[in-house]
Amino acid sequence: MTDEPQFPNLHVVDHPLILHKLSFLRARTTPKKEFKELVDEIAMLMAFEATRGLPTEEVDVTTPLEKTVARRIRGKKLVLVPILRAGLGMVEGVLSLMPGARVGHVGLYRNEETLEPVEYYFKVPPNAEGRDFLVLDPMLATGGSASAAISGLKRRGAASIRFLCLVAAPEGVRRLLRDHPDVPVLAAALDRELDERGYILPGLGDAGDRLFGTR
Ligand code: PRP
Ligand code: URA
Repeated sequence: MTDEPQFPNLHVVDHPLILHKLSFLRARTTPKKEFKELVDEIAMLMAFEATRGLPTEEVDVTTPLEKTVARRIRGKKLVLVPILRAGLGMVEGVLSLMPGARVGHVGLYRNEETLEPVEYYFKVPPNAEGRDFLVLDPMLATGGSASAAISGLKRRGAASIRFLCLVAAPEGVRRLLRDHPDVPVLAAALDRELDERGYILPGLGDAGDRLFGTR
């Protein structure tokens, strides 16, 4: 894991397996089915890092040989929050590691002219105060969508939030550092810049369209 000195909120999870899979994800020739599988696999590998700080507690266990004390994750309070649509592509991968996690949904799309996020759905479990939230979206571009989703969670009482993406632009990381300095951002890659339409360069194109075959 690499930390970027100019972005104290950012952790780049640059494990060789993730870099390898990301190279195929970026390629324009990668077909839809493989693209979805890669998103799930990278999300699963990143979830391993993202959950490193989860609290554990002692439990009594009887092995085939004797009684012992082991550790398990405390409570079942983790909530995955994919940002629709593209964030949905990461859910199965993370759930394969943590099948007991709950799943909320935040519906946002970018107005293609203003690049401002427009909210159309927000549903998360009650009692947000006591839960750990993992917000999922493959792309952090201007940061408008991620910032709005995190603000919505905070308005509902959430205090423990992490943001997990595959590709981040410096503009988006900077925006989250300004709006939500308390929220760690985990990314598989920090890319160079945004183009004039708000696409990440070099990026991987439109993640939602590539996942769902809508272009
Ligand atoms: C994409 C992406 C993020 C957002 C990132 O979604 O999945 O949610 O753009 O851009 P931002 O950081 O500038 O806000 P999009 O609006 O294309 O919607 P979709 O997932 O429904 O395709
Ligand atoms: N959303 C995407 O899907 N891709 C980008 O490059 C930027 C925003």
